[in-house]
Parts: sequence; structure tokens; C-alpha cells
Amino acid sequence: MKPKTILLVAGARPNFMKVAPVLRELSKHPDTFTPKLVHTGQHYDPEMSDIFFDELDLPKPDRFLGVGSGTHAEQTAKVMVAFEKVCLEERPDLVVVVGDVNSTLACALTAKKLWIQVAHVEAGLRSRDWTMPEEINRVVTDAISDLLYTPSRDADQNLLREGIPAERIHFVGNVMIDSLLALLPKTECRDTLARHAVEAGRYATLTLHRPSNVDDADVLAGIIDVLIDLSRELPIIWPVHPRSRKNLEASGMSHRLQAAPGIRMTDPLGYLDMLTLNRNARMIITDSGGLQEEAAVLGVPCITLRENTERPITVECGCNEVVGNRPAAIRAAVASALNKNRQSIRVPDLWDGRAARRIIATIRES
Ligand code: UD1
Repeated sequence: MKPKTILLVAGARPNFMKVAPVLRELSKHPDTFTPKLVHTGQHYDPEMSDIFFDELDLPKPDRFLGVGSGTHAEQTAKVMVAFEKVCLEERPDLVVVVGDVNSTLACALTAKKLWIQVAHVEAGLRSRDWTMPEEINRVVTDAISDLLYTPSRDADQNLLREGIPAERIHFVGNVMIDSLLALLPKTECRDTLARHAVEAGRYATLTLHRPSNVDDADVLAGIIDVLIDLSRELPIIWPVHPRSRKNLEASGMSHRLQAAPGIRMTDPLGYLDMLTLNRNARMIITDSGGLQEEAAVLGVPCITLRENTERPITVECGCNEVVGNRPAAIRAAVASALNKNRQSIRVPDLWDGRAARRIIATIRES
């Protein structure tokens, strides 16, 4: 029988570590699968894209759509138009999308309307916060996907409640953790800490990029007040996302931060530097989704600057505190993270480095 053509879609930074293990596993079965990697180009700066290809050992994409930035409608529409052409040329048997970015939704919708089977990796996560573009992307992608791969049991329950038939849902674990565990040994002797002039266990890492935290100057100023105070005791390494960089410059806050020696702002970091910093941090302060999960596996206390999380398992396992963005709440969470016993953090079920293998086993059977 002819091998199945499978298009794997990646668009933005958090997608790359999720597609890498799936692509690697598919490539082990050339008689069964012909996988092809499609990069939509949603993220395009070298430090948001190219470095991840190198470090995760991803091959050059078979197709690069080059869509770039834009409003949500522009970006989603540009991906759809470009991806439709790819689907018509390649006639894939299956399209695999990961995560919850605009490229995820755009490619799932395009494939489904061409009657191509769609698999969603990281299905079923719900924040119930409809102001997040990612929540819309998640719900719509799940509603139209044929195979739904979930990272945790709460995700299974969410899908069942939404009427998704149980036979389409597969609890496989967390594919992003496959990449983390595969690359952790490479962080052993990196000089990342020395380059940032910090010592293991004596600094925090910070990421901030959600519109709810960085687009409103007053909210951002409140968060920065707390961070400047904390940085007097505990230095903070902050790889700054392009969206946040623009807003800091526009609101004049960059000058205040430059005057705070404990806050070390850098350009966005590659996967290995970030993993090295995270595993050795005293705490992680973030509004990212993936970092909450990485913190749980690394056993590092995490403070999430959001009102909710689609990853409640990271709270249940004793790692994460979801505190919103009001200064008093962040201060209280920082105090409790400083006192947290790391031994009390448990790794969630099936976050064991073998999620991609489980996914491929079900695709072979389908
Ligand atoms: C996107 C995802 C978000 C994910 C985040 C990780 C959606 C809706 N959002 O948000 O879920 O957590 O990626 O980074 O898909 N920019 C650059 N260079 C780049 C990419 C972006 O300068 O390589 C700037 C552009 O000004 C752009 C802005 O960042 O307008 C936002 O990029 P975009 O892809 O729209 O969303 P993110 O905020 O990165």
C-alpha cells in the first residue's frame, strides 16, 4: 500500500517543540507514512523560528507559506489561502495541527473543508475565557477534528462535555514534554547561567506576552513595579517577546527598566538557553501556556499572571499558582513561591517523553 501523506503544521514559536517529536516518530516508518512539514511563517524572526529548527533538529520545512503578522482575520485568512493550495497539490491523507495559535485553526479549517482528515495534538484544553484568541482557536479546532490527542484527563472530560464522541479522543500525554526530556541532557554543561551572570537557584525567569498583560500601559506598569521590587532580592532574566518590546518602548517604560539592575532583559532566547534557565530557576513567572507545563516537569514553582489557565493540571500537581495581574496578588504569590517545597510538585500522568509514540500508534491503527 502507498504510504499515507501526512502534513504537519507549525506556525509560531510554541508549535515547533510540539511538531518535532511527532515528525521524528512518523519518519521512522517510511513504508507507512510520508510526512511533510509545513511552516506557515506566522513567526518569522530568526530568534522566534530558525533557532528552534536548529536546536530541535527539525528539517527545513517542505513548504513555507510566509504569511507573517497581521490582524487576526488577516493572518488566519492568509494562512488559509496559502494552505489550501498546498492541500490541493499534496492531497494529504491527514493534516496534523498542534496547539492553539492562529495557524492551528486556519489549517484545520482549510483541511476539513476539503474533506481531509484532521488530527489535533494538545486537544481539549479550555480556559473558558473567550477574550483569549487561543480559546476560540482551541474550541473550533477541536469541534472539527477527527482525531483528538489530549495531554491530560481534564481535557478528555472537556471534550466529552462538548459532545465529541469518545472514540475520537486519545489521552496520549504531553508531546511538548517529549522535546523537553529529549533535550534536557544538552542543558547540563551549557554556559547560559554564566552568560546571564546568575547562579543556579538564585534568580527568576520571566516571560510576558499576552495582550491582557502587555497591551494596557497601566496594567504593564503595575506588573513592572512588583518585578522591580522582587529584582532587588532575586535577579530576573526576561527574554522579551517582540510584542512586549514594542509596548515597553511605546509607553516609555524601557527607561525605567534599564535603571533596574536586577532585571536582565534579553532578546527572545532559543530552546536550549531557555530550558537551561528554567530548570535552574528559583521560580518562573509567566503568562505563557507551555511554560506552566515545563515548570511542572522541571519541579520549579510557577506563578501565572493570568486570571485562568487551560492547564489546571499544573495547579493540581502542586506547581502552579494562577494569580492574575494585580500587584498585591503577584506579591503574595512570589512570597509563597519562595517558600515552596519543590519535592511537593508531581509530574502529571503520561508526561514521560513517549506521547508522540502513542500518537503514531493510533494513526497507524486509524
Ligand atoms: C502567538 C500566539 C500565542 C502564542 C505566542 C507565542 C495566536 C493567536 N497567538 O502570539 O498563542 O502564545 O504566539 O509567541 O496565534 N512579531 C515579530 N516577529 C515574529 C513574530 C511576531 O516581531 O517573528 C511581532 C509582530 O509585531 C506581531 C506580534 O509580534 O504583530 C504578534 O505576533 P502574532 O503571531 O500575531 O502573535 P503572538 O503575540 O506572537
